[in-house]
Amino acid sequence: MSDLANIDRAVALLKAGELVGIPTETVYGLGADAANPAAVARIFTAKGRPADHPLIVHLPGAAHLDRWVREIPALAYELAEAFWPGPLTLILKRAAGVPDAVTGGQDTVGLRVPGHPVALALLRAFAEAGGSGGIAAPSANRFGRISPTTAAHVREELGDAVPLVLDGGPCVVGIESTILDLSSGRPLLLRPGHISPAAIEAVCGLMPEAPTAAAPRASGTLEAHYAPQTPMRMLPRADIPAFLCSMHDVGRRCGVLCHGGDAPTGSADVWKILPADPVGYAHDLYAALRDLDYAGVDLIVVEAIPVLAAWSAVADRLRRAVCGSGEA
Ligand code: TXA
Ligand code: MG
Repeated sequence: MSDLANIDRAVALLKAGELVGIPTETVYGLGADAANPAAVARIFTAKGRPADHPLIVHLPGAAHLDRWVREIPALAYELAEAFWPGPLTLILKRAAGVPDAVTGGQDTVGLRVPGHPVALALLRAFAEAGGSGGIAAPSANRFGRISPTTAAHVREELGDAVPLVLDGGPCVVGIESTILDLSSGRPLLLRPGHISPAAIEAVCGLMPEAPTAAAPRASGTLEAHYAPQTPMRMLPRADIPAFLCSMHDVGRRCGVLCHGGDAPTGSADVWKILPADPVGYAHDLYAALRDLDYAGVDLIVVEAIPVLAAWSAVADRLRRAVCGSGEA
């Protein structure tokens, strides 16, 4: 499904300082004109997000970087050339005039060019209509909750707070962008995502490093994030049948999130079986967690995933979801 017909209305809303729900290839975003501090402030109110958490500015193309960034390193252009439009956010030194509301008062700004036809059509039309060319957009969920991967999820999360949600169908990637900080010389991986450290190294010859404790704030890096309201815990596949029996015996209802062809045996009230590969798993993860959260179970049991580099972005989201659900 594609909501290209509503682009003009979306541009008018953005220029009037209103919010628009935007499909991207990762998750849906809650967008506002990045150059309008009052519009950006509305994002924080709608999400219930602390005001010092920085937002990602979405651009129609790398040619628009100059307005938002100073001292752009060659590395940024190399990575933009390889991965934009796509699920990679670059943290760079902010240009003068980028509102503090966007950067959380930091000296850096996060930017990406999303790889979704509706998002790109909106960004281009917004720039052509004399807008700033930048749309600040966090994921369109209430703070700390599961990111939306369909337009219906956005309406569930934010309801009347958003006058228009563009419908671009289900998100192709399904988890948030990889965040790479290039502001300090060496690339730092602030958030793992679909674009892996190995893919980044293949382009620029540098393997991203893990940030130190003094790294900038990123709400996607809080321990408790992306969480359902239902308590969650992760168990090895072999332990799930006996665990389900013990829960059943004490009258607790369980939902199970497993992967691969066949579900483990055992009595659970709801089963969700995700694909056995990390890309397919990421694509379906948030919708499955959302369904399990609404299923009215007492506990969500997640089958442990493989401990392999290819699973690191999924492992990151699951770990934070378990932590945020209060059952760590
Ligand atoms: O895939 C995505 O990145 C989605 C779509 C909508 O583009 N957006 C998204 O936004 O996940 P949000 O706000 O939910 O997560 C963005 C993360 C936050 O953890 C934020 O703290 C971090 O990016 N961030 C933004 N600007 C930053 C900066 N200047 N320095 C460090 N972290 C930054
Ligand atoms: Mg988010």
